[in-house]
Amino acid sequence: MADISIIGTGNMGQAIAAVAGRGGHTAQLLGQSDGTVEVASDIVVLAVPYPALQDVIRERGASLAGKVVVDITNPLDFETFDSLVVPADSSAAAEVAAALPDSRVLKAFNTTFAGTLAAGKVGDLTTTVLIAGDDTEAKNALAEIVTSGGLEAVDAGSLKRARELEAFGFLQLTLAAGEKIGWTGGFGTIA
Ligand SMILES: NC(=O)c1ccc[n+]([C@@H]2O[C@H](COP(=O)([O-])OP(=O)(O)OC[C@H]3O[C@@H](n4cnc5c(N)ncnc54)[C@H](OP(=O)(O)O)[C@@H]3O)[C@@H](O)[C@H]2O)c1
Repeated sequence: MADISIIGTGNMGQAIAAVAGRGGHTAQLLGQSDGTVEVASDIVVLAVPYPALQDVIRERGASLAGKVVVDITNPLDFETFDSLVVPADSSAAAEVAAALPDSRVLKAFNTTFAGTLAAGKVGDLTTTVLIAGDDTEAKNALAEIVTSGGLEAVDAGSLKRARELEAFGFLQLTLAAGEKIGWTGGFGTIA
């Protein structure tokens, strides 16, 4: 049993696994070729591009029942870089929650670039992971992994706040893509 399972072995999957490792937690990283490997934790991060969520849910949805499922996507239209592809009154996380009614879905990590998870810093500030979700116990469990890995975690409210987190992540991405901030920068939080 791992402390956290991460589906997707790219920049974010590896950065989140490293955060978990820094806090003494075990992380299971699952790539596309690991389709038959069982998810080994009760906390599962979907570290894949937004369009791939459908595939992951189709392939693994049944096995995610009863688990904490963390959506980290920024559902941008990457052709135009000018809009989100989810309806304005919804979010990718809301779609995941609708598709996985027996899972406890959280939105997290979408406002922190991989580089800031790795560095633990945004400028002089400790990197803060904003976590939204309807289940306090689930949020606390993820926050414990984040904070023991040396980052800050802030409860950003119910899963409805995923909409704002996705807008926030979208804005931050446009700033970095436009070279107004660096990919190791971004928004910081002061308590
Ligand atoms: N990078 C950031 O700083 C950042 C920050 C906040 C949020 N995010 C979000 O985090 C997510 C991952 O971003 P990333 O930067 O880590 O991307 P990435 O480096 O491109 O990695 C994406 C991972 O998803 C896997 N994948 C793609 N399609 C899949 C499928 N159908 N089934 C299973 N796995 C699949 C890829 O596998 P293969 O390698 O085999 O193709 C790869 O391991 C995205 O939703 C992004 O919006 C990224």
